[in-house]
Amino acid sequence: MTVYQNSQNSMEQLSEKELLDFVKAGNLPRHIAIIMDGNGRWAEKKGLNRISGHREGIQSVRGVITLSRELGLEALTIYAFSKENWNRPALEIKTLMLLLEEYLKRELPTLMKNEIRFQSLGRIEDLPLPVIQSIKKVEEATRNNKKMVLNIALSYGGRAEIIDAIHQFNADVQKGTRLLKELDENLFSSYLYTRGMVDPDLMIRTSGEERISNFLLWQMAYTELYFTRTLWPDFGRKDLLLAILEYQRRERRFGRVSPESHGEI
Ligand code: FPP
Repeated sequence: MTVYQNSQNSMEQLSEKELLDFVKAGNLPRHIAIIMDGNGRWAEKKGLNRISGHREGIQSVRGVITLSRELGLEALTIYAFSKENWNRPALEIKTLMLLLEEYLKRELPTLMKNEIRFQSLGRIEDLPLPVIQSIKKVEEATRNNKKMVLNIALSYGGRAEIIDAIHQFNADVQKGTRLLKELDENLFSSYLYTRGMVDPDLMIRTSGEERISNFLLWQMAYTELYFTRTLWPDFGRKDLLLAILEYQRRERRFGRVSPESHGEI
């Protein structure tokens, strides 16, 4: 067993309050992205239908939003529905859309009270009309909230996002408002769905899968990746704190050499 596993295991024994104190004493990530995975497996393990897993998953969503806000994160981005998820059984898609609509209606007062700005990322035009309308309503109502941004990726694909950005940039070039030679990484970022936001510092994926599955491909160039076997409906406040502690333990070099290294090659 590695030293790291020992220290991680001992951290798991700590209470939520102790973990919170450790996390607050360290460098906090500004932006966390999450691939919420394992709702179906959670339900199957309990002999329930997949939808029950998604319903329970919404409780975990509420928990991470609340803690992220308490910690003072600038942004939280959750992957709720990928472009590839359209290939799921029609009934599961329909129920997921209903859950989403129900969620948006129910949570608007909480988002307002906590000054959270809601934003959708993805090809929103693919979604059913009532869902589009609920999204627009919540985006509009929360537009001036300043404490945290909650991004929900819906009908989202990282490659599609890059293609959409290229089309939009090209449209501006055609209109004469942009020149091709101006294009650099910063300008390109301003054409992505996440324009104006810092890139994620930490990406968490639950359920034991260790892939990024077409999520925030451009934005995750230097993001720390954290994978846990915990299934999304079981992912609670302590799990998020453990992920942040692991992030704080890592040294982010962004391609530079460590300041600890004394110049020997
Ligand atoms: C992954 O589990 C989960 C999803 C594809 C959907 C996530 C959706 C929710 C938590 C509910 C709606 C969201 C919001 C924001 C209200 P999976 O079904 O892929 O699980 P499996 O891999 O075990 O089958």
